[in-house]
Amino acid sequence: MNKPVAAAFSERPAAPAVFQTVSTIGKEARAELKGQKPAILWMTGLSGAGKSTIANRVEERLWRYGHHTILLDGDNLRFGLNSDLAFTDADRVENIRRTAEVAKLMLEAGLIVICSLISPFRRERMLARQRVGPDEFLEVFVDAPLELCQRRDPKGLYARALTGQIPNFTGISSPYEPPEAPEVHLRTDAHDVDALSDQVLDVLRRKGIMTRTP
Ligand code: ADX
Repeated sequence: MNKPVAAAFSERPAAPAVFQTVSTIGKEARAELKGQKPAILWMTGLSGAGKSTIANRVEERLWRYGHHTILLDGDNLRFGLNSDLAFTDADRVENIRRTAEVAKLMLEAGLIVICSLISPFRRERMLARQRVGPDEFLEVFVDAPLELCQRRDPKGLYARALTGQIPNFTGISSPYEPPEAPEVHLRTDAHDVDALSDQVLDVLRRKGIMTRTP
């Protein structure tokens, strides 16, 4: 695999004469207004594994409990912020980097941030994790066998990828590196969306992120 090294997630600015300013109001103060502990839920998995469906259900349930969330969906970001990126390794690295930076900003705003993108590379998911505090990043592996994703093929993309119409398709002509130690492992071939979102919410309760009762 030919991934660019220069795209490491660095705190250093591209130009040397740039300095960081510190705001008076920090992440904790902003989160306190909302009475919640900010966090990033990073959902990774193959196309068709069920990331968007679960992300959406988890967000809906957090919202019903009065938690302030934002959902960053890979497909949607590619209509705006990431509309200049394709699916080469280098573009995916940049896609993950930008999404991680936006997620970090939203975390600073005190939100519970749900990211839902294939994010196929372990290294970049690790870099996204390292941009925030150790308790603030939860990797959620949305796991379904490739054969099942191909059978589901909700957007008809696997069929097109298999006939060569879509290059660099994850699982077909581009790799997917599954998480080795995710905080949450969801088997979407074995459970329905309600049970899977329960599984996520249980972890959020245990970690003190979801604190409210109905
Ligand atoms: S990522 O790999 O860079 O994280 P991302 O989640 O943003 O991917 O976008 C994946 C979505 O783009 C898929 O849900 C699918 O609809 C669409 N897509 C288009 N081309 C590809 C491709 N070559 N590989 C994977 N997904 C693709």
